[in-house]
Amino acid sequence: MPLPATTQLAVRHSRIRQSFDTLALDALVVTSAANIRYLTNHIGSAGVLVLTRQHAHLLVDFRYREAVERLQASNAACPGLRVREVPASYDEALLGCLQELGAAAVGFEAAHVTVASYDWWRRSAEARQLTVSFQPTERIVEQARVIKDVSEVDTLREAARRLDAVAGIAWRAVRAGVEERQVAAALESAMRDAGYERLAFDTIVASGPHAALPHYRAGDRILQAGDLVVLDFGGVLDGYCCDLTRTVSIGPPSPEARRLHTAVYDAQQAALATVRPGVETSAVDAAARQVLEARGLGAAFGHGTGHGLGLDVHEEPRITRPRADVPSVPLLPGMVFTIEPGAYLPGFGGVRIEDDVLVTDTGCEVLTHVPRELVAL
Ligand code: GLY
Ligand code: MN
Ligand code: MN
Repeated sequence: MPLPATTQLAVRHSRIRQSFDTLALDALVVTSAANIRYLTNHIGSAGVLVLTRQHAHLLVDFRYREAVERLQASNAACPGLRVREVPASYDEALLGCLQELGAAAVGFEAAHVTVASYDWWRRSAEARQLTVSFQPTERIVEQARVIKDVSEVDTLREAARRLDAVAGIAWRAVRAGVEERQVAAALESAMRDAGYERLAFDTIVASGPHAALPHYRAGDRILQAGDLVVLDFGGVLDGYCCDLTRTVSIGPPSPEARRLHTAVYDAQQAALATVRPGVETSAVDAAARQVLEARGLGAAFGHGTGHGLGLDVHEEPRITRPRADVPSVPLLPGMVFTIEPGAYLPGFGGVRIEDDVLVTDTGCEVLTHVPRELVAL
């Protein structure tokens, strides 16, 4: 059972406040819109949150005044919220807030603050003789977001489930003679009909040789018999993203197309089979990569195997080879991420198969259900 929304926010706040002790902070300035939503339930394109040990000071401008009042009158109200209306400049209002609070050691999200803002904060605090010191922090809220709580899992499961209906409708638009853009429009219209509030990313419809470009979008190429078509799409439901890729064939696939699809399918199966608590993210990646390498397709798979899903379409954990900036981490129950190996052959085309999975106590639950086999449309 999900916790009541307000209690859930209190749990999140207390997790973030644990890092106040380890980092000796009086407050954390949160500027990422997704992180502000995660900690307050407030949805806005502008806003700053100053989380202290007692309160959550939300700085918003006139455009969000009523929305915040409604939020606080609802059963999803943010505990300890203090609202401050920003008359003009957010940076100015932030400094005023910190001055009033008398906060000395103030963390900020280094990944979400521009050098210009940071510079202005420091210079202005100095000019006003404030004792505040700004300390860059890394991924404090992002790390909390990695483990989804029950209500987030419910939403992600429902977001993924709705892709069945989208595929069911949109596949009818995939045939020789139509433009990639028309297929994208069919997918996007079906996503609206399925109730997603927006697209999670630009829909990819990559046909024929375009299928060799992993992040191609959708252009004016006309689908032809014998093409492989990579269809990569996803929507956002109550803030949470889903992300699915299927590769289909226009008419019967060639032997090379079938070989490529089978290799990627097997790579994905191998990766899925590894997913359980305690297994390293790098081991999930390696499982997929080894299958493709064994089929002579190692060089054709040049991206990571997956990425976390949540309020952002690309978030932690990264399912990839360990890198200096992306260490491998052990999987934990409640993580949700994609598994999306691919193989791309310039001039010929490519295949990617992508599903969304939840790490459970004993293994994994695949949240997306659209059949993965190569279908000829
Ligand atoms: N659609 C982008 C991705 O799969 O990561
Ligand atoms: Mn993806
Ligand atoms: Mn995708």
